[in-house]
Amino acid sequence: MKRIILLATLFLTGAAQAQTLDPDSRASALVKQMTPEERNLLLHGFFSRPNPVNKLPQIGAPFAAGYTPGIARLGIPQLAESDASLGVAWINGKRARDATALPSSLTLAATWDTRIAYAGSAAIAQDARASGLNVLLAGGVNLIREPRNGRNFEYLGEDPLLAGTLAGETIRAIQDQHVMSTVKHYALNAQETWQGAIGVTISEAAARESDLLAFEIAIERGNPGAVMCSYNHFNGPFACGSDFLLNKVLKQDWRYPGFVMSDWGATHATSDALAGLDRESGEEFDPQIYFGPPLAALDGKDRTYTARITDMNRRILRSMLANHLFDDPARIGTPDIARGEAAARAEADAGIVLLKNDGVLPLAKTARHIAVIGGYANIGVMSGAGSSQVAPQGGPALNIPTTMTADDWQAVVLHPGAPVKAIAARAPQARVTFDTGAYPAFAAARARDADIVIIFATQWTTEGLDVPDLSLPNAQDALIAAVTAVNPHTIVVLETGGPVLMPWLNKAAAVMESWYPGIKGAEAIADVLFGDVNPSGRLPITFPASIDQTPRPVLDGLFDFQPGRTTVNYDIEGSDVGYRWYDRKGLTPLFPFGFGLSYTSFRYDDLQLRSEGNTIHATFTVTNTGDRQGRDTPQIYVTGRGKTKGQRLIGWANVELAPGASTKVTVDADPRLLADWSTQRRRWALPAGRYDVTVNSSAASVALTGSTGLESRLLPP
Ligand code: BGC
Repeated sequence: MKRIILLATLFLTGAAQAQTLDPDSRASALVKQMTPEERNLLLHGFFSRPNPVNKLPQIGAPFAAGYTPGIARLGIPQLAESDASLGVAWINGKRARDATALPSSLTLAATWDTRIAYAGSAAIAQDARASGLNVLLAGGVNLIREPRNGRNFEYLGEDPLLAGTLAGETIRAIQDQHVMSTVKHYALNAQETWQGAIGVTISEAAARESDLLAFEIAIERGNPGAVMCSYNHFNGPFACGSDFLLNKVLKQDWRYPGFVMSDWGATHATSDALAGLDRESGEEFDPQIYFGPPLAALDGKDRTYTARITDMNRRILRSMLANHLFDDPARIGTPDIARGEAAARAEADAGIVLLKNDGVLPLAKTARHIAVIGGYANIGVMSGAGSSQVAPQGGPALNIPTTMTADDWQAVVLHPGAPVKAIAARAPQARVTFDTGAYPAFAAARARDADIVIIFATQWTTEGLDVPDLSLPNAQDALIAAVTAVNPHTIVVLETGGPVLMPWLNKAAAVMESWYPGIKGAEAIADVLFGDVNPSGRLPITFPASIDQTPRPVLDGLFDFQPGRTTVNYDIEGSDVGYRWYDRKGLTPLFPFGFGLSYTSFRYDDLQLRSEGNTIHATFTVTNTGDRQGRDTPQIYVTGRGKTKGQRLIGWANVELAPGASTKVTVDADPRLLADWSTQRRRWALPAGRYDVTVNSSAASVALTGSTGLESRLLPP
């Protein structure tokens, strides 16, 4: 009896000690206890959906994106992984539970607001927990180099500081709810056309100063449990087999402690493990399960592989422990729909960008006839398609199949909430009519005498396809041209995945970019139209005046793909992505990065710059000079460093001001935005000399200028 008590005490002490150990030590201890078979179980996962190519049993696996069974003997929980860029994914109606459909990530980026990022992601992580899921495949941070990319709606714009900061905040929010998050797709996965086979080339310095910097910032801020490597080749090898990306940059230079999972079907060899890949995902998509039997066969026989397999298991377990997957398991429950919807609405309200306003907005509540046209505005709001698709409570408002397969993952989906109804509710004095816009001349005739016309124009985009050009599809440009020609009081509301051209711009009275505005999109659009919300979104991406202004007027591989040969040359723009390219080339876009109008006006004064060590602090005053309360996002750019010219965003501020009120803000530059990457020294190098700094209301509109000096230095590693 005594012996039993002693043993029990010892066991409990051991368990308690294990709980208090840090995740690294606990992970190492668990790996030591694994049998040879168990050492292979966490290293590959399957696509947990009913799917013709799925060869593995689905027992216990929730319908989602990925699944790895746990190891009960060691108390290791399963990994149940859902797509998550904009909410817990819907999987064509197969997922059982309801979820929040957030606006697109570009909407979030247009808020430039970390608090909004946090609130939305915390809400979707709670939805995930309520569905029994413990990993969200979130954190899309690829820089938008290609305005036609079908997945731009899942990304956070064209600037590394903006995208990295917001992605980091979404990851932090998810993981604070004890759900593990990824950051993805690492790296330079900037087009969907042939994304699984296309090569990309870019110099190391250019990559480090742009796309890799976005990942670096997101990882620092969010500490994601996993990094998802991308489908494309990167300077030769596939990204998931790139020793440079995975071992050198991520694990060595950035000291990343988590694990690398492949995108679904992006593992190409067992030797990818030696390049730094830790987990093969969506194994059914690969010709064989490289990280299954072939890898297991090397364990214990090949010293390099054996050490790697120990490290792979340790990294996976470490991320699970650090994110409380062992001690705070997700349990099926009821999602807090109200919390999610409030976050979705706040995001859409703050992310809608007013691009043009001749004074027609906000709408006076005096119009007698408001003619609403097009964009399925009688049904719902547009969303982006692909693995990130979320359908909220009750399912989509409209689902139009686009393929001939049953598993129509690229369907055109409209979220519920009809803008026509939201508009009618705010204009009880008006007769609100709707026309589909199918016949431009007819729609124009019906709208001719309306007091106000609101045209909804949609652009559907999807994972897996890029748009071939930047025009609005389905002759919507002709519709807008016909209507604006007969009624000058026409407002165009865009629901697009990214930038579009606007050949009718000078005829429209107002233009609002509402992106894919999510489950509360209709309300948010009405909020801004009627002035219940003062618009404050700022473009996180440049709108080109023509595709010829962009670095690649023709999409690589669109018409002439040659396997193994077609590569995208990202050295054309290098790290001068987006607005930096326009600045370098002296081009005037349709709308610049950072642009957005308000119903009030702001003034900036009194710029003071202070250089200290490796950084610059900019202090200035913002005043609301109009007659309405409003949010503003003053942006700080460096435009010249030492002897070099070139614009870079180094910070911004979010301010909310009552009419006539002023506030002083200070922004500290991230030294990496002031520096250049020195490939030779493997460090960031600050050039010596004067640094010219501007405070702007967009990349193209300078309000204040100043300059300060910095000494030449290498930043600490
Ligand atoms: C996408 C990833 C996604 C994965 C799982 C891939 O096709 O590129 O973003 O997380 O599928 O659904």
